[in-house]
Amino acid sequence: MSDHDQRTGGHLDVRASGGGLGAEVRDIDLRTLDDDAFAELHAAWLENLVLLVRSQHLAPADLIAFSRRLGALDHAPVQETGRRFVGNMPELYVVSNVVENGAPIGSLGNGEAVWHTDMSYIEHPPKASALYALEVPPTGGNTSFVNMYAVYDSLPETLKRRIAGRRVKHDGTYNSGGYVRQGVVPSDDPREAPGALHPLVYTHPETGRPALYLGRRRNAYVEGLELAESEALLDALWGYVDQAALTWTNVWQVGDLVLWDNRCTMHRRDPFDPDTRRVMHRTQIKGESRPA
Ligand code: SIN
Repeated sequence: MSDHDQRTGGHLDVRASGGGLGAEVRDIDLRTLDDDAFAELHAAWLENLVLLVRSQHLAPADLIAFSRRLGALDHAPVQETGRRFVGNMPELYVVSNVVENGAPIGSLGNGEAVWHTDMSYIEHPPKASALYALEVPPTGGNTSFVNMYAVYDSLPETLKRRIAGRRVKHDGTYNSGGYVRQGVVPSDDPREAPGALHPLVYTHPETGRPALYLGRRRNAYVEGLELAESEALLDALWGYVDQAALTWTNVWQVGDLVLWDNRCTMHRRDPFDPDTRRVMHRTQIKGESRPA
């Protein structure tokens, strides 16, 4: 975030990224935010879709306590190893490439994590995710976000009309690192693969704004279409996702907390050197309603 961006008012120092979404909130400690400051942070989050807060010192219990201020938490997905949680904290998901005593301590390895929405393969996907950096590699492993309100707005009217009222299957076979989820028999037929059907256009329950709701590309399927027609429509829609002007990338520093709105953004992660360490803790806040 640049130093000369405007503050957006109120008591918090909120600086818009200048990209397609995202803002940095400066000089706060997420362990001690009072209710007024939290309300302002929440409003800034709805407005900017993704917030970055640097230089935090969050033990797992602090991350969970902060996340709970946004709502009840989901339990983390089962990791590729079958391990579910850290200690007695089922809400905590570890994203890491680190292997200790022959076993990975977390998920997603060191490869690219492709564009996706977190856990949208379930009926009630989380509304938000918070990702906190404990160890970061010297280069790579950056996380990019895209503004799905803006992607929807950028679609030609003909495409908007074609997707109105349609639902898409969000695949539950593979995670964003390409690993098969625990307990799933992999299938590459999008019609047969497990997953949840959600509207292609999601009206955000808090802002009332429409967003394109794609989830992830692999094994996606538009309900009611021939497979080839579904593939062609999805390819056309995905062609609007990677617009540089609609994205923002966080180059991680230790102590960064990034909070994103899972209803109107997608994210992806760059690969990084497997001989370096990256350790992140993630929580997810339950959605109050099904995407509609
Ligand atoms: C995730 O997809 O939730 C993790 C992204 C990252 O590792 O930066």
